[in-house]
Amino acid sequence: MSVVFGILTLATISASFCNGNLDNVVCKKSERQALLSFKQDLKDSKNRLSTWAGTEGDCCTGTGVVCDNSTGQVIELHLGTPSLSEAEYFAHSSYKFGGKLNPSLLNLEYLNYLDLSYNDFSGIQIPSFIGSLKSLTYLNLSESGFGGTIPHQLGNLSSLRYLGLGGRYEGSLEVENLHWISELSLLQHLDMSGADLSKAFDWLRVINKLSSLVELRLS
Ligand SMILES: *[C@@H]1O[C@H](CO)[C@@H](O)[C@H](O)[C@H]1NC(C)=O
Ligand SMILES: *[C@@H]1O[C@H](CO)[C@@H](O)[C@H](O)[C@H]1NC(C)=O
Ligand SMILES: *[C@@H]1O[C@H](CO)[C@@H](O)[C@H](O)[C@H]1NC(C)=O
Repeated sequence: MSVVFGILTLATISASFCNGNLDNVVCKKSERQALLSFKQDLKDSKNRLSTWAGTEGDCCTGTGVVCDNSTGQVIELHLGTPSLSEAEYFAHSSYKFGGKLNPSLLNLEYLNYLDLSYNDFSGIQIPSFIGSLKSLTYLNLSESGFGGTIPHQLGNLSSLRYLGLGGRYEGSLEVENLHWISELSLLQHLDMSGADLSKAFDWLRVINKLSSLVELRLS
């Protein structure tokens, strides 16, 4: 028994020594857990997120995960389609993520970039908790198969500079009004081409209030 204990202790010491030496940042345990819960609810037929697997591994090295170099906090999630040419190659629909979005994302306190574009969430609503990811500066849900009413809670993302709600299939996403958008005063790039705005009578007045806007796409 004591021999086993001794070996374990040695392994632990050398592991932490190694980390210090290589100046590696390892993700926080709570954030690793959050990513694993998020993955559990995601449909990932091609197992693209197999590198997220372990409960002991470093989640900063996982596919699509970017951590802050000095703190190890997860700051970006790139879960869209890899690139245009690859997208054609992977056009087969099982490559796309589906399922649902677990609110465990809220435990990624410093997440500022979330790309879920070009997936297939089969018409489910954009969850309103996305509006509580307060650090987001980039949110891309274009062509990702969300449907229904866009939650007005997105208006709480006051740091947002990029908002992608584009799509080729008009009418799957809709808005009751656009008042919430006028809260996004830092917004520079807005793509609402995937949304039916016919109920938003005042869209022009709202869009006019966005003084930082440099790019606008509507359907
Ligand atoms: C993190 O490190 C990588 C590689 O060393 C570097 O390219 C990148 O700019 C750094 N990012 C930040 C935010 O410091
Ligand atoms: C923003 O969040 C606050 C509470 O944090 C809530 O009361 C308010 O309704 C939210 N605003 C929108 C537009 O969702
Ligand atoms: C969303 O992602 C797609 C695919 O990468 C890109 O073409 C589009 O410009 C992005 N939208 C925004 C608002 O950045």
